[in-house]
Amino acid sequence: MKFSYYRFLLYSGVAAWTILLNGYLFLYHYDNIALSVKTFTNNVNSQQNNNGLYDSDKMDDKVKGDYNEEENHKWAFSSDNNVLHKFNPHHYEPVNTSIVNHKTFDLYKMHADVKDLRGIRPTIATNYETIFKNHPNPNTILGNLDFKERCSLYFQNLFITDHNWYLNPNEELPVGRYVNPYDIELAEFEYSNWKFYNHDRLKQEYIDYEFEGDDQSTITDAELEKFMMRKFEEFWNTTLQVEQKTLDSISHLRIFNKCFLSNSDPKQSEKANQLIRDQKELIQTIQGKDYLPSFEFTESEKMAKLDSYGVCSSLEKRIYPWLSFQLPVFEKWSGEIELTPPQYNNYHKKSKSFTTGTFHQMSDCFFNDMRKSLNGRGIVLTLGDVHVENTLNLIRLLRALGNRLPIQIVYYDNLSGSSKAKIVKAARQSMRDFPASMEKIRHLLPEDYDLGLPVQNIHFVNLFNVVREQYIHKFEGYGNKLLATIFNSFEEFILLDSDVVLFKNPEWFFETSKYKEGGALFYKDRATSDKRPETDLFLLKSLLPNVIDNAMFGFPMVPEKTLKNDAFEGMYHFMEAGVVLLDKTRHLNSILMLPQLYFMEPLMTRSHGDKEFFWLAFAFNGNEEYVFNDYRAVAVGEVKPDRRKDNGELYLAQQLCNSHPAHIDDEDNSLLWLNSGFHFCGKYDLVDYENDLHKQGNYYLQTFENQEDMRHYYYNPINIRHAVVPPFSGANYLKGPNKEGEPEIAWQMLHVLCHDYMWCTYSSIGYGDTFQNGTVIEFDEDQHSYFKYLGDIWVGLE
Ligand SMILES: *[C@@H]1O[C@H](CO)[C@@H](O)[C@H](O)[C@H]1NC(C)=O
Ligand SMILES: *[C@@H]1O[C@H](CO)[C@@H](O)[C@H](O)[C@H]1NC(C)=O
Ligand SMILES: *[C@@H]1O[C@H](CO)[C@@H](O)[C@H](O)[C@H]1NC(C)=O
Ligand SMILES: *[C@@H]1O[C@H](CO)[C@@H](O)[C@H](O)[C@H]1NC(C)=O
Repeated sequence: MKFSYYRFLLYSGVAAWTILLNGYLFLYHYDNIALSVKTFTNNVNSQQNNNGLYDSDKMDDKVKGDYNEEENHKWAFSSDNNVLHKFNPHHYEPVNTSIVNHKTFDLYKMHADVKDLRGIRPTIATNYETIFKNHPNPNTILGNLDFKERCSLYFQNLFITDHNWYLNPNEELPVGRYVNPYDIELAEFEYSNWKFYNHDRLKQEYIDYEFEGDDQSTITDAELEKFMMRKFEEFWNTTLQVEQKTLDSISHLRIFNKCFLSNSDPKQSEKANQLIRDQKELIQTIQGKDYLPSFEFTESEKMAKLDSYGVCSSLEKRIYPWLSFQLPVFEKWSGEIELTPPQYNNYHKKSKSFTTGTFHQMSDCFFNDMRKSLNGRGIVLTLGDVHVENTLNLIRLLRALGNRLPIQIVYYDNLSGSSKAKIVKAARQSMRDFPASMEKIRHLLPEDYDLGLPVQNIHFVNLFNVVREQYIHKFEGYGNKLLATIFNSFEEFILLDSDVVLFKNPEWFFETSKYKEGGALFYKDRATSDKRPETDLFLLKSLLPNVIDNAMFGFPMVPEKTLKNDAFEGMYHFMEAGVVLLDKTRHLNSILMLPQLYFMEPLMTRSHGDKEFFWLAFAFNGNEEYVFNDYRAVAVGEVKPDRRKDNGELYLAQQLCNSHPAHIDDEDNSLLWLNSGFHFCGKYDLVDYENDLHKQGNYYLQTFENQEDMRHYYYNPINIRHAVVPPFSGANYLKGPNKEGEPEIAWQMLHVLCHDYMWCTYSSIGYGDTFQNGTVIEFDEDQHSYFKYLGDIWVGLE
């Protein structure tokens, strides 16, 4: 892949010096090439700063060099959040990663059977560079220090480098990626693309700031080109710094979590300790016990004391500065307000060694206390006033499904009293009037079904006080969902978007073998043909734990499963996060990675909303226990029968058009859930019907004669007779080019109907050599009637 890219560049007649610069930069950043091409200018010593507070003789050179009053002010851990670290491309210093190739780590990899399968040039946290500069022989660390001591060492060095370090959610991390939703493959990282997109802006900049003279016609192409190349190099340097910064933040967070938040989990701690015992033995064998050099703290490390009581909570404040260290307020449907999590007696985990339900403010770390207070199994919904209608529909549906799990409705600050009242009414009022469609499926329902549907146990969870004010804007958009994931009080929960429609009782999901196996069950998105630029993958891979993380702290190297998933194979859409099941006692550390990903621009621009973050948070934490339902999203509704080409021939591909992705179970093909509500067209109230009537084409089962009929159809629940499971054989087989008029891609987004949100899905693509066949599942009459009944309940039809 990379070589053909190269050849393409080489033969493409671009001026040779452009190739050289461009190629050098590309390789340098992303290929497995030694750092030796780079001169690593050590300007550490040139910045010496004699600060009277310190006896400079006692300080390590490193510390003397790095201590710089002015810099430190910029980083002040203070109330002033507008102070941002500015990226200066001229002072960019790449991290020296040569430690990765130290023979100790080679031997370690061999003996511990650890492999780095990522195929990228090594990247490590800046702090590891610092540590191994202070301790150039890794054996002194790996052969002597236990887990806790390594944790201290890491954070000691962080403090030595910068007393005021913290992860600032408001930090600007400018990204150079050119994001064009219709042309996602064009990244800016190639000089030619970059120039193409920035040409006019740069020319103007050149004229304004560099060009001397009045007559612009005298600007030479060569001068302009030179200017642009310099700008490209600046852009490149900034990108590299930003990506390093991203890696640093993720490293601090995962190491903190592993070091301090797993304490209460004896199994995890034991695993880490075992790993380190084995490792010490290994190093002692390799090195010869008597020859193992002892570990000596440097003078400055000795001064940073991190073994005292309360160290967890003081580090926690730097890792999670956005946190107010308050729990949300819980309000029961009946109006009772509680400041501690509600107690549900619906379900008790077997192996809980700590008492539930008590929340000792700041006895330890906030999150350790929170972990102890979790209890029960339940449903989590997020909500603002705009979603109330959908939520009412969903609650009625949950009752019709016989749900008895408690529900927490998580919102930020201002869910109105009238919205709450509507929700409580939907959850508690008696429900004995059933839609006529129930008759047909009465025989499938329990005897006592028409005595009334179960009332729902609802808590409103107000997040207002959980985030410090200066960071709350970071959670706009999808942020509520992240906060709901973290701050609901269940041990295990199913998180539902408010426009999700379930077809199974929520308890069913907790009983699936996949959920039981992993404690985290996710669903895959539509297999659309959008691809990721390769450069995305280099960044994402570089953030997975590396060999140093593995050797120092026992982070698994995230082997095959994650690296072989469709996202790493290059697909842009991988996960659909409308329904997520999580066991929070088991996966709290990975869940806490979520907001950090959300804060960082380089990752935000690489995910559509937050949806890819759930599995990425696990992967960056070295946690591969998450499990996906095998099927990609499917389309449900009715396939158009007897679809013919202009020449009268039948199409090979069956077609089904609407705006809902749906999910079927990989064990028994049963329908599990769908998204975007139950109305045929979720945005039926925003549709320009005149336009839709005009452009309806061949996409629907019937041809609509007038706006009224069409509106009616859009409003009604989708009639679910079929599921179209498009062919999918992997990221490299998403297209089936052909000249027979058969579809070339399985998911086609129409930008015209249903308020410009309509997908047509095909059961096959291509023709002849390129033909790939999927399947069409036909639901039986009982199933069809059951879906119809649930649709009527959801839409609220009598
Ligand atoms: C990186 O560090 C190693 C070991 O300290 C050193 O030998 C090497 O010269 C450094 N590389 C650069 C480019 O400075
Ligand atoms: C990019 O960074 C290198 C040091 O790593 C520096 O030598 C070079 O001047 C920088 N380029 C620009 C345009 O700032
Ligand atoms: C709730 O707050 C959001 C953001 O502050 C605002 O846009 C919305 O209108 C508010 N809703 C109500 C019902 O006050
Ligand atoms: C595609 O598969 C379906 C069964 O799912 C089958 O009925 C149909 O004949 C197949 N089409 C072709 C062209 O092989």
